[in-house]
Amino acid sequence: IRRIRTHHLREMKQRGERFSMLTSYDQLTAQVFDEAGIEVLLVGDSASNNVLGNSTSIPVTVDELLPLTRAVSRSVSRALVVGDLPFGSYQASPEQGYLTAARFMKEGGAHCVKLEGGVEMAPQIERMTRGGIPVMAHIGFTPQSEHALGGYRVQGRGDAAERLLRDAEAVQEAGAFAVVMEMVPGDVAAQITAKLEIPTIGIGAGNQCDGQVLVWQDAFGLRTGKMPRFVKQYADLRSTLLDAARTYDSEVKSGAFPGPEHTF
Ligand code: KIV
Ligand code: NA
Repeated sequence: IRRIRTHHLREMKQRGERFSMLTSYDQLTAQVFDEAGIEVLLVGDSASNNVLGNSTSIPVTVDELLPLTRAVSRSVSRALVVGDLPFGSYQASPEQGYLTAARFMKEGGAHCVKLEGGVEMAPQIERMTRGGIPVMAHIGFTPQSEHALGGYRVQGRGDAAERLLRDAEAVQEAGAFAVVMEMVPGDVAAQITAKLEIPTIGIGAGNQCDGQVLVWQDAFGLRTGKMPRFVKQYADLRSTLLDAARTYDSEVKSGAFPGPEHTF
């Protein structure tokens, strides 16, 4: 496959093949992850707290995310690029949502968009889909609603599992081509995955989802410190960078760098 399209993900689900997704917010990581064979790159609103220095995803704006989305979409040759609609840019109405999503497609070069919400976002998903914009939904724990949900909590436990299933079915019915499930019990995510025709993508939702997603700085150890339980650290980039920066600093200060081979 030269380019991953939304139908490829559905076909992978039908064949029982899993796919992978990572966040990316810039040219060089997009190129590396694309080369690694990651099927889907999400220019997440998590850029708010992984690039732009905020402590949550709430403050990030459309105008801040568009240049990052453009950087990623220009840099991949295979991966499907998802533009993440930020808080406040689509909830007000389907029209607001459509106009925002269209900017991500036109100005950001995104191949599709992601929004947070289930049953209540069905009108937005329908409007976008009808207008030619593929939509990935995001249910369970939705970080933009952190304050409404009362903090970082597992969603869909016990009786709430029924509501989560209704959210999943509503977004599929509305036309979403895939759905992210965040911080959901593994058995609930497995049941929903088996029920839906569209692929599910888990983050803290067990290994029975059709795909998985992580924030790259978490997965590869650029961000360290207290991490949610669902993160696995595949590299220790912070230590690597810290060592390199310290070595550079000391060589500059001692005069060891630049050497004759770096000098004209
Ligand atoms: O913004 C983000 O990084 C996300 C995912 C981790 C799903 O929405
Ligand atoms: Na997000």
